[in-house]
Amino acid sequence: MQFFEIVGGTRLKGTVDISGAKNAALPIMAASILVDGESILHNLPDLADVGQMQTLLARLGVKSERDASGAMHLRVEDEMNAHAEYELVSKMRASVCVMGPLLAKRRRAQVSMPGGCAIGDRPIDLHILGLQSFGADFELVNGDVLLRAKKLKGNEVFLGGPFGSSVTATANVMMAATLAEGRTVIASAACEPEVVDLANYLNACGARVAGAGTPEITVEGVESLHGAEHRIIPDRIEAGTFMIAAAITNGDLELHGARMEHMRALVDRLRRVGVVIERGEKGIAVSSSRRLEPVVITTQPFPGFPTDLQAQAMALLCLADGNSVITEKIYPDRFLHVGELNRMGAQLRKEGPTVIIEGVKRLVGAPVMASDLRASAALILAGLVAKGTTRVHRTYHIDRGYESIETKLAAVGANIRRMNETSP
Ligand code: EPZ
Repeated sequence: MQFFEIVGGTRLKGTVDISGAKNAALPIMAASILVDGESILHNLPDLADVGQMQTLLARLGVKSERDASGAMHLRVEDEMNAHAEYELVSKMRASVCVMGPLLAKRRRAQVSMPGGCAIGDRPIDLHILGLQSFGADFELVNGDVLLRAKKLKGNEVFLGGPFGSSVTATANVMMAATLAEGRTVIASAACEPEVVDLANYLNACGARVAGAGTPEITVEGVESLHGAEHRIIPDRIEAGTFMIAAAITNGDLELHGARMEHMRALVDRLRRVGVVIERGEKGIAVSSSRRLEPVVITTQPFPGFPTDLQAQAMALLCLADGNSVITEKIYPDRFLHVGELNRMGAQLRKEGPTVIIEGVKRLVGAPVMASDLRASAALILAGLVAKGTTRVHRTYHIDRGYESIETKLAAVGANIRRMNETSP
């Protein structure tokens, strides 16, 4: 087991190359199940979750390997198996993205129902409802979702849930619709940039998807899909995390590859906090040199404020000059970082899906425990500015979604290193 040791107090300065987006890469890799021939994916991040998807795809007969340039080549070699087992799915929820492609291409999908999650209740009822709308039969067998259909027929489906649209349910239904007979209309579809990137890949493979990025997506089914070459979009959540790293350290960073149009809700909030954000030559320039203003944040589906940046924003607002309020509207229980930040001297009070943040003058270093991917990013950000040394344990959480974060941070001045628990 490893931990990060961070000595706080350095202003970050320099440039960071933003990696490809995890949440675009995973469904696009799963979509290779639909395709006849080879696909080549560029700008695919080197993450534990990408490795996990490769393992699952291999079990489902999809060969994937990187070439010398780092591009990943994917090709279906065997279509016999359509079972995504518990021991694989339980390691990564995004494994459910194989459900739609398996049903559409192999007319059968047996996928383990994902269990509990640290960030809260995450049912997949919308995925099942959406895939049933093509005429598939559904059964729950030993904890597995079993969907079968002789053929898929396009249909109209409403995918709005209690917390709004669903990103991966939209992805699953959109992927299945590409090979269904006739037209499919997905209403209350998720509008995230990752959904648009998936649609662009599918269209490059010969699909006919229109309206991605809007709440209504229309898909005209086709006979088959061919291989294609595609470049994954930059990771707006990684870019957002580094934007907040610049703000919390009163630093000055240029984020190469980051796209302003994917990050408007965050940029709006950070500008109100007093951070200077401009389009740079190769991305976005972020600088901060003054006291931080308190703000109110409510998480929402895109283009609203992303829930995947809620914890990181909370770490920043711990140091604002006044009281801030964060309300979590997507995962009302996504607050395991609150207790750990309070251990570093923050003044956070949780009331249902809302946290009141009383700004403090400083945070102090402490040993803290990461509970999930984005919470661990928040603890690292707090460690960058805290007085003294912070140890963030369970680095495996962060390796799932950030490509060598400590190397990127150290390159712009952070005092951070990865250590083995056994080290004295
Ligand atoms: C995607 O998860 C992301 N993961 C998550 O990022 C992100 O937090 C989430 O979207 C919201 O933006 C990937 O893209 C791989 P949802 P997803 O279905 O698709 C409810 C990270 O840190 N819901 O959009 O699983 C659900 O409980 C991860 O990178 C239902 O009620 O999220 C939640 O409250 C964490 N029924 C809301 O909708 C369903 O069938 C949004 O969830 C599906 C979802």
